Amino acid sequence: APSSRVSLTVNGTRRTVTVDNRTSLLDLLREHFELTGSKKGCNAGACGACTVLVDGQRVNSCLTLAARLEGAEVTTIEGLADGDRLHPLQQAFVDQDAFQCGYCTPGQIMSGVGCIKEGHTGSPEEIREWMSGNICRCGCYVKIVRAVEQTVG
Ligand code: FES
Repeated sequence: APSSRVSLTVNGTRRTVTVDNRTSLLDLLREHFELTGSKKGCNAGACGACTVLVDGQRVNSCLTLAARLEGAEVTTIEGLADGDRLHPLQQAFVDQDAFQCGYCTPGQIMSGVGCIKEGHTGSPEEIREWMSGNICRCGCYVKIVRAVEQTVG
């Protein structure tokens, strides 16, 4: 199958790989780079479990082709904490008890980081709207919104 050589930055580290042109960013992260924080729920853009930031923009990594990411800067859940210090939104998820099984949490947090970055935090409704592509089967939505609100202050 046709493949491409790509250089991209993942969580601050420059990486160069040869990938099959059909490889998703999600598979690149999980299978080539062993960054398994981003989860594969639906693999079809419907659940948000695979959410990461590409050049600061929220994307579903299952729908993003790795071969197109030459020069891109990718941030995953593994890249959020500063050493032992959690990112404020990670801490807020702990404080607000915003997860049960935890499967959707990395995607929720990356989506929430995008929400805060883009300033869609004017009201709980606005946050909920922004986060609506991130499904939580445990139904933690109220607490997830609170965690985003806590982070904004
Ligand atoms: Fe990508 Fe569900 S795994 S949106």
